[in-house]
Amino acid sequence: MRRRLALLVLAAAATACREEVLPEADGRGREVAAGQKIFDRKCASCHSVRGDGNTIVAGKFPYANLLDGKWRGDGTASGIERQIREGHDPMPKFQGKLTDEEIRQTVAYVRELAEGGKP
Ligand code: HEC
Repeated sequence: MRRRLALLVLAAAATACREEVLPEADGRGREVAAGQKIFDRKCASCHSVRGDGNTIVAGKFPYANLLDGKWRGDGTASGIERQIREGHDPMPKFQGKLTDEEIRQTVAYVRELAEGGKP
């Protein structure tokens, strides 16, 4: 009886491990997922969770729309990173507020949004 319980626990642990391994196998997926959390917390108030920029704060700034393929900069990862680090009135700068890793994750998510990776 005890033994069966131990087996059950083991089986449950094995299942839990398998579930954790999957997302880790995809480094980019993990980066994008981490970026999404940051975006929802720090950026969505202006850019909306969808990234269309259709909010009271940013609605009248055309470049706040991150989905339309029109960029203030060149639209490359480094251009997006620059905007996040330096900001551009009224967008605050995030240099010093986010770590380099968090900025990289956020850039990955913004690019995913822009490519329509998410509805
Ligand atoms: C206070 C509101 C606000 C917040 C918070 C904010 N933004 Fe912005 N963002 C804007 C506005 C407004 C613009 C367009 C203004 C401009 O750059 O001309 C913009 C522009 C951008 C651009 C440039 C788009 C382009 O066309 O080149 C990127 C990329 C961007 N934001 C990403 C982010 C990310 C990522 C975050 C969170 C870490 C964030 N923003 C937080 C308001 C905000």
